[in-house]
Parts: sequence; structure tokens; C-alpha cells
Amino acid sequence: MAGDGPPVVRTQLLNLTLAADAGAVAELVARRLLEALRSRGTLGLATGRTMLPVYSAFVRLLRQLPPPERQALLADWCSFNLDEYVGLGAADPRSFAAFMQVQLGVPLQLPAGALRIPDGRALDPQMEALRYRAELERAGGLGLQLLGLGSNGHVGFNEPPCGPEMPCRALALSPATREQNADAFGGNPDAVPAQAITLGTAEILAADSLLLVVTGAAKAEILRRTLQEPPCEAVPASWLQRHPRLEVVADRAAGAALS
Ligand code: GLP
Repeated sequence: MAGDGPPVVRTQLLNLTLAADAGAVAELVARRLLEALRSRGTLGLATGRTMLPVYSAFVRLLRQLPPPERQALLADWCSFNLDEYVGLGAADPRSFAAFMQVQLGVPLQLPAGALRIPDGRALDPQMEALRYRAELERAGGLGLQLLGLGSNGHVGFNEPPCGPEMPCRALALSPATREQNADAFGGNPDAVPAQAITLGTAEILAADSLLLVVTGAAKAEILRRTLQEPPCEAVPASWLQRHPRLEVVADRAAGAALS
């Protein structure tokens, strides 16, 4: 059953855990998030379908804690999300702000403003990116950064081509990414916002530690390129290899192409 039993593979060279399925991945990642929360570091959070079971497992785990510990952890909560669509605010159910409220804010009854995220409705998205970056700097940067993997190798919304030192910014989304994320927009890629604000590879690589979570057979080849080919601009997530504390948790399907 998902979550039961040990992970099937743990490599020496790379801190990679392959779990049986997405449920088992979620349980492992939820435990890592709880450790990070207990260490009182700033959490870097991500959105996307990969994170749905992760956040459900995290909420379940937090609800099992003794109330005094849970309340103390939630009162001290400090998180920064990776990215947001330009043009969408928290009132729009398709925004990442709304995603975070539904997945974590409401179930955990987090204090208002606890889930920091770029303001997609800002009149000047580039200025908003600068403001968000400055807010993150004031908070002392990222502790553990949770990451998903785009089908085209993007991380956050750092679209290819992208080097390892790109800052937080507003940028155009690729046709491939708009296609990948069309589900939330009635299946129409043209309805997906054309731009987004994202933390850059610079802020991501400056986090104390990185936790990359990848599930599903469709990501097997891009995960192989991310981890087992030399880092390159065509696969922005491949720069994560340079981080000294990169941990990867994947299911067997996503790990199938790894040697
Ligand atoms: C999205 C987000 C990323 C996310 C990735 C994977 O577009 N910007 O932060 O990790 O694409 O999404 P999914 O988990 O739905 O495959």
C-alpha cells in the first residue's frame, strides 16, 4: 500500500529515492516538509498536479500532531511560492494563489498572508518580481525548496533556454507549457496566461536544500535528462545538479529511464 514499506532504491551518488507510486512519494515528501517546518526554515513551495497528493499527505500529517505543536508550527509558518500567472489573482480559481489556499491555506487555517506568492494582478509584473525577490531576501532566503518538474524541463516557470543565474522575473510561457497546463483552463492552451512571474534559477539554487518531486511515466525521459546529462540551458532543471543538497524523490514510473 502507498506509504508502507521502504523506498525501493536509494543511490549513493545522487540523493535519489524511488518509491513505488505517487502515494508513497507523497508520504515521503510530506515527512520531509514536516522536518523543514520543525526546523523553522523558510519553506519554498510549488504548485502543479504532482503536489496534490503531497499536500494532502502533509495536511494529514500535521493534523496528527498534538495540537500545541501543530498550533506553534502553523503560527510560525513562513513560505514563498515559486510562481504565479500574470493576470490572475487569488480570487481566480485557476491562479496558483487559489491552488495554495485550497490545498494548504484553508485546511490548515493558516494566518492571512502566510502563503507568500507573487501578485499576478500587479500592474507591472517586472516590478512585482523585484518586490517579491526583495521580500524573500528580507526573510533570509529559502530553506527547503520543494520543486516539481515541467515536461519541457522547466523548474518553477524558468522556461528553456535558461542558465543557472537567472533572477526572479516576469517571462513569456512557452507553447509547450501552456499546453501542459491547459487542463485548468478548460483544456484550451490559448486560455492559459501568456506570461508568468517566477523565482529564478538564481534564487532556487541559493536555497539551503532542494527537494525535487517527480511522478508518472510521462516525466521519465525529462527526469533522465535533468539528472544524468550535463547541465544545459535546454533543460533548466538540470542546473539543480549543481546544488550540494539536492534530494530527488520519484516514483518507479518516473525513474524508469534512469541508469
Ligand atoms: C507548472 C509549475 C511548476 C510545476 C510544473 C509541473 O507549470 N510552474 O512549478 O512543477 O509545471 O507541473 P505538474 O506537476 O502539473 O506536472
